[in-house]
Amino acid sequence: MTSRTVSESIRKRITKLQRDLLNHDYRYFVLADPVISDREYDTLMRELIELEEQYPEFRTPESPTQRVGGVPTKEFPTVTHTRPMLSLSNTYNEDELYDFDRRVRNGLGEEEVMYVAEIKFDGVAVTLHYENGVFVLGATRGDGMQGDDITVNLRTVRSIPLQLRNDGRKYNRLEIRGEVLMFKEDFFALNKYREEQGQRLFANPRNATAGTLKLQDSKIVAQRKLRFFAYQLLDEDVKSNSHFERLNMLIDMGLPVSDKFERYTSVEKVIGFCRDIEKERDELLYEIDGVVVKVDSLTLQEKLGTIAKSPRWATAYKFTARQAETTLNSIVLQVGRVGTITPVAELEPVLLGGTTVKRATLHNADEIERLDVRAGDTVIVEKGGDVIPKITGVVKEKRPKGTRAFTFPDTCPVCKSGIKRLDGEANYFCINTECPAQIRGRLEHFVSRQAMDIDGLGEAIIEQLINRKLVITPADLYELKKDDLVPLERMGEKSASNLINAIEKSKAQPFNRILYALGIRHVGQGVARILAEEFGSIDELQKAGEEELTAVREIGPRIAQSVTAYFQERNNLEMIERLTKAGLVFSLQGSEEKKQTLKDTTFVLTGALDSLTRDEAKALVETLGGKVTSSVSKKTDYVVAGADAGSKLNKARELNITVLNEEEFLNMVKDH
Ligand code: IVH
Repeated sequence: MTSRTVSESIRKRITKLQRDLLNHDYRYFVLADPVISDREYDTLMRELIELEEQYPEFRTPESPTQRVGGVPTKEFPTVTHTRPMLSLSNTYNEDELYDFDRRVRNGLGEEEVMYVAEIKFDGVAVTLHYENGVFVLGATRGDGMQGDDITVNLRTVRSIPLQLRNDGRKYNRLEIRGEVLMFKEDFFALNKYREEQGQRLFANPRNATAGTLKLQDSKIVAQRKLRFFAYQLLDEDVKSNSHFERLNMLIDMGLPVSDKFERYTSVEKVIGFCRDIEKERDELLYEIDGVVVKVDSLTLQEKLGTIAKSPRWATAYKFTARQAETTLNSIVLQVGRVGTITPVAELEPVLLGGTTVKRATLHNADEIERLDVRAGDTVIVEKGGDVIPKITGVVKEKRPKGTRAFTFPDTCPVCKSGIKRLDGEANYFCINTECPAQIRGRLEHFVSRQAMDIDGLGEAIIEQLINRKLVITPADLYELKKDDLVPLERMGEKSASNLINAIEKSKAQPFNRILYALGIRHVGQGVARILAEEFGSIDELQKAGEEELTAVREIGPRIAQSVTAYFQERNNLEMIERLTKAGLVFSLQGSEEKKQTLKDTTFVLTGALDSLTRDEAKALVETLGGKVTSSVSKKTDYVVAGADAGSKLNKARELNITVLNEEEFLNMVKDH
């Protein structure tokens, strides 16, 4: 054979492998009907990778080997959307759906309108651009007008075709919108891995997806098993005037579309669909938070138009906040940093309202008795808003044989010292301040993000430091040497140095944070800030009596008593002395005045941020002298928009107020 024919046959083999693998992706992700095993797939993929390495001239950007890009990016370029990415109005019950239907029919002057009902994915919206069938650009929704170009990350999502099939190739340009999400199973596995690695857990699959899409290293994105589902095919060049037909065209072009979509001629049938889906909800492989109802005809859609940022031709029917049933594996007693003993239910993990629930508080001994809840029971867990999940009932019919009522012990479950219940308080507490649980709790609190913010000191490391008697009080942290750390599990030379640096860096934390970090009972972030500002130094605070303390705004007798009691403990005074020697400054510093960089600046926070809670964000702003209000007005300086930011964002745009995304906000407040 001539070298020419050799290379010709290689080219053919490469092309065939590329085509076959793409076809297998299609069968797997779109048709959910794979014809080969994962292992066979991997074998073909390996062959292709090797051949393409030897003959790079035959490698094309659309080859299935080309999903993971090169070097990590620094920043995502901004993309202006061809057409804004709208949000949806919400309906919360069947009556509201009837209202929607009435508005649509009145608006159109039609007796009957066809609707498409489809599931509402609880993921992250993205838009994909294809040119002559080739995937060229993928972007986030951003503020609806502009998003981030995350093409490199989206290329790694295997259910997003790098090349379209059939008619998809005929169009010069196509824009396809849909949702990226993570299957529940993959989400649990990811969190389990992160837990083992001592990394922060994601609250729910949506946050995990959003966090992943923001990563600058597409290699990590590729490992995260994200999925894509398409729900909208834009473009005038596409002839079909029906959304329903367009969904079917998407499938034909090789895009994954959920099989849960139907076309109906009446709102009653749409409601029937909503009821069915709500029942099936838990069986789906991914999280959904409702049903989207859309007018089928694009002409009619256009006729109805858009109001504010949502179309009049569609609405989201949101499911009600949920209860879930799960098994209570055991009741454990937790001892907090101030000794409070709280019974906690360890549950079989269950997804509820978008977050994984593994534990629920049982509050106290009386509550356990009231519910008559036992290990092995099937329980009903409820969650509303940001509240910690609660057990609201026991399914007694499902109680297995041989369960026993829980008995509250009369000694601390951790150190076996005596326990006490104060008058008027519902909880018992351990009277031994040297109780290991309290020691651990105090350390965890001290290093936490809101307190000294020492990175790299997770629970697992703290546990080891305590077990090896390297650390008992926070003051001991500042005496740690790198050599103490290196022998710890999951600790290398590098991470040991990083940790030492983080501890060193924490010495520069301002007085209010240090005060909060001490973990004085009832002294939260807000109170710590007030005390720091009011008294200026730990010496002055120590000198203050209960009366002087209660004279301060927002300080009541409960706090005053706890503060004075704190300074009566010799151990506490010794620790403060050691911390001072280590270099922590227990007083306001001149520079802190200057650090009021956000003085007279007003913020409105809207939507969910990934890396911190609303309260934390608020505290950050306030520490720097800024103010956080709840509604957007002309006086607002900045609106911080997290995921799913709603009407406040629209208002901000109307009033021309600067909108910050999470990263911009963090840049503004960090290092303070
Ligand atoms: S249609 C104007 N269809 O819901 C139509 N959206 O609140 C806009 N979403 O950002 C999109 N499932 O992330 C549509 N089947 C579905 C959807 C869906 C989830 C999300 C999407 C959008 C948000 C709107």
